[in-house]
Amino acid sequence: MTAILTRPAWTTDLELEIFDKLLDNYAPHIPKKRLQEPRPPETDEEKENFYRFRIAGAAHDLFIVQVCAKIIDSFADPELQLFLSRQIGDDGAHAQNTRLRAQAISGRDPIEDIQKQVQKHWDYLGDLPIRNWQGFLAFELHYELHIVALLFINSRTSKINDPDSAKFAAERILPDEAVHRLGVVDWWQRKFDRASSAEKEDLIAQVIEADEEGQRRRNPYLRDHWHLSQKAIGIEIDNLPVLYDTWRQEVLSYFLDIPISRLPKLVSVND
Ligand SMILES: [Fe+2]
Ligand SMILES: [Fe+2]
Repeated sequence: MTAILTRPAWTTDLELEIFDKLLDNYAPHIPKKRLQEPRPPETDEEKENFYRFRIAGAAHDLFIVQVCAKIIDSFADPELQLFLSRQIGDDGAHAQNTRLRAQAISGRDPIEDIQKQVQKHWDYLGDLPIRNWQGFLAFELHYELHIVALLFINSRTSKINDPDSAKFAAERILPDEAVHRLGVVDWWQRKFDRASSAEKEDLIAQVIEADEEGQRRRNPYLRDHWHLSQKAIGIEIDNLPVLYDTWRQEVLSYFLDIPISRLPKLVSVND
């Protein structure tokens, strides 16, 4: 076996390459590029489903803001604080844009509906995101990196969207989120690179344990959210469980710098 001396940087190109490889293996019928431009929601039912889908998106972003704002002060790491302050600003702006678009479509201010959904994230995750750095890292992995498989599927198979939201997503959200994913990778690598070999084994075990707890806690939410996404924007979800599970393996393998074959058997989204 040849030792791997340098690893590729975690970039959006690498993400695309990994995801397309997974598609070839598990869902070759899903297109590599969008075949059909989405159209706006039309009927009252479509508008209501789309509203619920957008509320879920705003809640995801506002939850990130609340978690990062609570924990930023507990890290004595100015580099990490600067990253988190950007994440708070960006994801807050994403949530606010989504709120305003949902309001334009429905005619009502959704802020209370959004906060109700944010509370559900707190309820199912418990104190995991703010318990310690391991729990917070697991939270970042789940909310910024593991969801990427779903984002790829959305961007290729969705049939309904709001043009203004699509424009904001392309111009602002996509580049911001790439920075967030890179920021999480950077923070972890600074921590990991400083550790001795023995400490590394320990760190890997701690991260896997917290990430697995996050997966178990998040499973019912993810399955519900995927069904909502299918109903509201028409994405294909039949292959999402296998794509999600294998994408998460790829992320952890990169993160922990161990081959997939050496990862323990992980909790599945279907468990
Ligand atoms: Fe965001
Ligand atoms: Fe983000």
